[in-house]
Amino acid sequence: MEKIMAHPLARPLHLPCGAILNNRLAKSAMSEGLADVRNHATSRLEVLYRRWAESGAGLLLTGNIQVDRWHLERPNNIVIDDESGQTQLARLAAVGKSGGAHFWAQISHTGRQVSSHINAAPLSPSDVEIDIIREAGFSFAKPKPMGEDEIRHAIAQFAFAAKEVKRAGFMGLSLHAAHGYLISQFLSPLTNRRSDTWGGSLENRARFLFEVIAAVRDAVGSQFPIGIKLNTSDFLRGGFTNAECVELVKRLNNTGLDLLELSGGTLEQPKVVGVTLKEEGEDGHYVSRSAREAYFVALAGAVRDVARMPVMVTGGFRSVAGMTDALGRDLDVVGLGRPLIADPQAPHRVLAGEIDSLLSPEASLSIFHVLAWNNMQIERLADGLAPDLALRGEGALAAFAEIESKNMTALLDYRGRRTA
Ligand SMILES: Cc1cc2nc3c(=O)[nH]c(=O)nc-3n(C[C@H](O)[C@H](O)[C@H](O)COP(=O)(O)O)c2cc1C
Repeated sequence: MEKIMAHPLARPLHLPCGAILNNRLAKSAMSEGLADVRNHATSRLEVLYRRWAESGAGLLLTGNIQVDRWHLERPNNIVIDDESGQTQLARLAAVGKSGGAHFWAQISHTGRQVSSHINAAPLSPSDVEIDIIREAGFSFAKPKPMGEDEIRHAIAQFAFAAKEVKRAGFMGLSLHAAHGYLISQFLSPLTNRRSDTWGGSLENRARFLFEVIAAVRDAVGSQFPIGIKLNTSDFLRGGFTNAECVELVKRLNNTGLDLLELSGGTLEQPKVVGVTLKEEGEDGHYVSRSAREAYFVALAGAVRDVARMPVMVTGGFRSVAGMTDALGRDLDVVGLGRPLIADPQAPHRVLAGEIDSLLSPEASLSIFHVLAWNNMQIERLADGLAPDLALRGEGALAAFAEIESKNMTALLDYRGRRTA
């Protein structure tokens, strides 16, 4: 017991709104793809989160929940754009909280990062199409620049979803402003080419984010934790940079946020899982030259220096020494994604001093298999099974492609029948 209390990662964290996280380890948001065709939460999601509720992490974030059903990152995302899934959402919230962790919903709008099968004219700040290898099986349509009414509507959709997650019993929420989704599309000069008050200067590109935060705060009140996931950098030439991130966070200090989670990259540049596909722009050398293990800590330190809210950094943490070393200097909370898929008890083991490092199965997988491998393990966990660490990358890719294609067909059938 003494050992547990003594561990620096076991120290509680007081958030600005008054809420307390039990310790410094968080399960980061990971898309589950387990909702039904109505995009409501399911019993399989409950099985999955019961496992993570007992992980020992002080904070659990859901995978991205969409605020608009025509803007999905995967066919089986949870969507909250009406009240129809409230009962299912409340059941999920109850399960996620059952182990004593804070359970927050990540809410998101994909903007242009939605399959063309779901949306042939997705909304985005400007009509800049995604530039991505077609062979990877993705298909994205040219986006439609948002009109003033559509921008106002999207802000209202974030506020509506926020109100609904609070009503369902979630203990907080996080706004997805990273990884090239809609808020991130507004922030980046590459995807935001607007010349009105929503584009141009950093202040204008950040206006959408600030309006979303204000509307969401209004919807949930002052005691409810609001976090945000932001890129330290997009790592793209001409994109949102670390210098802009630092400037932005100085301004975010006045918005009453409770947690700033730092990540990086976009769908075009999947730095989020440590992969580089394109020229990295001015911030690339920081990451590649960093002697520290995690992907973004080298850039996060500069952000934390100016941040007045607690900072969480997610991406690549695998050794307990690396996490402890970064704590207090670069961050207040360590975000963990894939390690909690490979070992859903990992936080307990770290806090009990039982292990020095986390499992890292991705190290032996091809970059083309990493997502599928993790998604297939999530499928297993949702069936009440243990992760299968011997699962081969090729097999995972084939199985996942089949599931996702079936899910897409079922979603399109369901929607087709509804609109017929
Ligand atoms: C299967 C999978 C799904 C993910 N889905 C999301 C998501 O919905 N929202 C998000 O912000 N990040 C998402 N991520 C990124 C993770 O939150 C995290 O930033 C990333 O995995 C790096 O952390 P790690 O090295 O600890 O895994 C996802 C990652 C994986 C592997």
